[in-house]
Amino acid sequence: MNRAHTKNPELRAWIDEIAALCEPDTIHWCDGSDEEYDRLTNELVQAGTFRRLDPEQWPGCFAARSDPSDVARVEDRTYVCSISKKDAGPTNNWVHPREMKKTLKGLFEGCMRGRTMYVIPFSMGPLGSPIAQIGVELTDSPYVVVNMRIMTRMGSAVLDVLGDGPFVKCLHSVGAPLEPGQADVPWPCNPDTKYIVHYPEERSIVSYGSGYGGNALLGKKCFALRIASTMARNEGWLAEHMLILGAESPEGQRTYIAAAFPSACGKTNLAMLVPPKPFLDDGWKITTVGDDIAWIKPGPDGRLRAINPEAGFFGVAPGTNEHTNPNAMATIRRNTIFTNVAQTDDGDIWWEGLSDTPPAGLIDWRGEPWDPASGRPAAHPNARFTAPAAQCPSIDPAWEDPAGVPIHAFIFGGRRSTTVPLVLQAFNWNFGVYMAATMGSETTAAAFGEQGKVRRDPFAMLPFCGYHMADYFNHWLQIGRELAHPPKIFGVNWFRRDEQGHFLWPGFGENMRVLKWVLDRVHGHRPAVESALGRMPHYDDLDWRGLEGFTREQFNALMSIDRDDWKREVHSQDELFSELYDKLPKEFIFMRELLLSSLWRSPRYWGLAPERQ
Ligand code: GTP
Ligand code: SPV
Ligand code: MN
Repeated sequence: MNRAHTKNPELRAWIDEIAALCEPDTIHWCDGSDEEYDRLTNELVQAGTFRRLDPEQWPGCFAARSDPSDVARVEDRTYVCSISKKDAGPTNNWVHPREMKKTLKGLFEGCMRGRTMYVIPFSMGPLGSPIAQIGVELTDSPYVVVNMRIMTRMGSAVLDVLGDGPFVKCLHSVGAPLEPGQADVPWPCNPDTKYIVHYPEERSIVSYGSGYGGNALLGKKCFALRIASTMARNEGWLAEHMLILGAESPEGQRTYIAAAFPSACGKTNLAMLVPPKPFLDDGWKITTVGDDIAWIKPGPDGRLRAINPEAGFFGVAPGTNEHTNPNAMATIRRNTIFTNVAQTDDGDIWWEGLSDTPPAGLIDWRGEPWDPASGRPAAHPNARFTAPAAQCPSIDPAWEDPAGVPIHAFIFGGRRSTTVPLVLQAFNWNFGVYMAATMGSETTAAAFGEQGKVRRDPFAMLPFCGYHMADYFNHWLQIGRELAHPPKIFGVNWFRRDEQGHFLWPGFGENMRVLKWVLDRVHGHRPAVESALGRMPHYDDLDWRGLEGFTREQFNALMSIDRDDWKREVHSQDELFSELYDKLPKEFIFMRELLLSSLWRSPRYWGLAPERQ
């Protein structure tokens, strides 16, 4: 494929302009074919970026080690450059677009010297779907090309669909030009300077200096969340950091749920959940539509419908194994790219949690021999796999339906060692929005910075909302006002711990018990207890078959609401509220007061109603 393949004048002019600015040695137009993928992966093997894994155990799989400095998203280098600072809001870094463009122009001048510039036309969403959007990424990283091939619908067919239409401009460089004769390194990046920049009004993205997933695969967080969230606000829909799953009951009733958890807090795992045996024997089935991003639009029937704009999974490797996530294990057995896992000399790989005994002779994610006694992890905690969604055994039959799937419930959750109960249902839409907006979560390795610290992460969107967070809350409230059949809203926390630091809840497949209660509530089959925070199940409302050893006392500990903890929690929400004060929905002020008043009148320790314990 070459320039002659498109007549799109804007696309042609933009590519000419960028080529002149970045001065790549050559330009390659990606057609998305198998031959192209094979050629590029071979070149990546020759360059030392990829290692081909053992073809018996891991057919078609590769492992890459990034530069040790380039392993996660860089939130402090991520900017939303709207024309007005007020539109970006206080939770986004902002620089005036004129000034930012000047800085970036300096950095991009000649930045692709010695390299090939790849032109990647891609579609977020099924090709030609009315919900789908087209982007074109220009990049000097072949690693980005082969990952985009898995994560999006990519290649010449996209240009045919695009025609003369609009597209999101995505420009990426690793920021490491090569002088004549200079040898390349396996993972080029710029250790000193990184910029992940969004221009929401122009619908364009510029990324410099990093080769890591969320910083470099621009269809994902940059386009499908930051840019798409601004499109969604203007056009009356939602772009969310959510998995989408289907649940099929033994009677054949299918219910779809979308759930938002912050990065590395369990979306991929919940999306691919395998129910415990008694549920499977009854005929329960969980199917996967998406594991990270949902685009959700109101339909003419007054319900929300959602699509997964992605075509692959960029999932967290550590913790993934045959017990916690057998569907992910089956998905990543072939045609998968692993980044920053540990490797052996004979083409095997390993990460923490994959098995109890690591294989001998492991090379850690930095490329050094790994000493199990060192206390250092063999795989980076944010090691990732890139795998085609179509390979997932639990993939939903409707996952590529251009019309999307109807959403019956939203679940919001975070990673909280204390304070937050296992599950509750919001009293109504507005309370649900309030609950999601005030959600806190302990930070993880998915982004640079201190880990394990509770921060407010409204809707799991703090790092991904392309506009003022309080405008975003108002947008959610408005969607609720306009919907005839709004989904029910729930909160969950799989991560509560005891004083010794052990998880109180077994999680993973056992989360099906919580999902079943959610489904029962959605369909009006189960009662609930009213607490200060929302409606909750009591022990007998959950199906314990196969986990009979889990006692009423254990459950009550998981569900407990401590009045003093919650007063502190409500007060810590004030930090976010005062930051967003100028645009904060008035509903939030009243809901906060209601919450405080019901906490005040509840017992210090809210357990379950005594007669039901
Ligand atoms: P991103 O891809 O960063 O958006 O992450 P994610 O939300 O998809 O998280 P993922 O499902 O990959 O899980 C992240 C980590 O949490 C992994 O190490 C999992 O093993 C662990 N995890 C997921 N679900 C559970 C659970 O129910 N209980 C416990 N204890 N850990 C879980
Ligand atoms: C996340 O951090 O939420 C991810 C991985 O899903 S990344 O693509 O890097 O954003
Ligand atoms: Mn994510």
